[in-house]
Amino acid sequence: MTQPLRVLTGITTSGTPHLGNYVGAIRPAVRASLAAGTESFYFLADYHALIKVGEPARVQRSTLEIAASWLAAGLDPQRVTFYRQSDITEIPELTWLLTCVTGKGLLNRAHAYKAAVDHNATGGRDADDGVTAGLFMYPVLMGADILMFNAHRVPVGRDQIQHIEMARDMAASFNHLYGEYFVLPEAAIEESVATLPGLDGRKMSKSYDNTIALFAPREQLRKLINGVLTDSRTPGQAKDTEGSALFQIYQAFASPAETAALRQAYADGIAWSEAKQLLFERIDREVAPMRDTYQSLIDHPGRIEEILHAGAVKARKLSLPFMARLREAVGLRDLRTQPGAAVAKAVKAALPVFKQYRERDGRFYFKLVDAQGRLLLQSAGFDAPKDAAQGIAQLRRMGSAALSDAPATLRLADGVSAAEIATALLQLTNAAA
Ligand code: TRP
Repeated sequence: MTQPLRVLTGITTSGTPHLGNYVGAIRPAVRASLAAGTESFYFLADYHALIKVGEPARVQRSTLEIAASWLAAGLDPQRVTFYRQSDITEIPELTWLLTCVTGKGLLNRAHAYKAAVDHNATGGRDADDGVTAGLFMYPVLMGADILMFNAHRVPVGRDQIQHIEMARDMAASFNHLYGEYFVLPEAAIEESVATLPGLDGRKMSKSYDNTIALFAPREQLRKLINGVLTDSRTPGQAKDTEGSALFQIYQAFASPAETAALRQAYADGIAWSEAKQLLFERIDREVAPMRDTYQSLIDHPGRIEEILHAGAVKARKLSLPFMARLREAVGLRDLRTQPGAAVAKAVKAALPVFKQYRERDGRFYFKLVDAQGRLLLQSAGFDAPKDAAQGIAQLRRMGSAALSDAPATLRLADGVSAAEIATALLQLTNAAA
């Protein structure tokens, strides 16, 4: 393959970067961006921030802090494409095109949306209480981020894998309908990167309020680290490295030799106060040089604006012509290039179809076959024709989500994927509209 591997990831601008973000995302991404043969895209997902943050000042501050953090950590904007999502006006435009090829049933199954619905169910509220259409559409916006630049690989945390799979579904549906425009992206999960525990020992996360800010001033960093949860063992008593948040955080910054030394010190009964001092010094050694750069960027937001602007220019060199091709593909066209009615007719003829029939066993069945007559989906037998008709109606209504809804009555034909069914059902819906 001559095309370089394209790697892309976004960072939602809803908070202040902490050590967990640094170890889990920023540091590995900056390192990966230096690898030869890859083309990296990093962006500030500020449209995504609007889904959960309703405070304009916080969105703005977070965008500034995250941009400054990535630059201070060594991201080279000459080498990578570093931009702000909302500067790429083609992204919301693509979001709409993808919205129109995404089954609603697919989005119903998104973890974040389902969690909100389940939470409402537990509280005895209406299923969609307090759920915005923004939350529901989150995976489509994310799909547009990824597909806009035809990224091959998307480094994300485990909680985001489903979103990448959905982006693949959207790409496959679009390609199936309109031709091969999109690369099917894959999630890249860094197995070697540890999730960092926070002050209380649970995963470091803003939602647990247990974070240590990446660029806290030196004395504040010391205070925060003194607050890391330890047990009540006294100086001289051997300490357990297993389950020790302090040890795990240390390990994420230290060399293997340094880690081994601390392990020994634990066994020898190091005092917690002394271990905290070691941890503080070790982190500060890595962070201090970046902290100065960070502070000077924060003090000169105009410099960041310039960098992001240059990044947007670079990104739009790709997104603008690509969007023009996509508009053409879906039929948002110059009217002087009217292709005539023949095309529309040909498309109509090439639709998948549901067939209902009765077998010798006296039961009622249906199947879905593609335009070429290939079997895609086979139902079980029903007692009455109206039950079979209901099964079809449910598939038409829910798209491929119906598959997991009624797994006992539906069977995929050999070699047929759920994505293929989703596309076929979508074609039917679009043709009926
Ligand atoms: N949703 C991602 C997160 O919260 C951020 C994000 C937005 C993203 N768009 C993206 C990540 C595209 C990868 C690719 O972590």
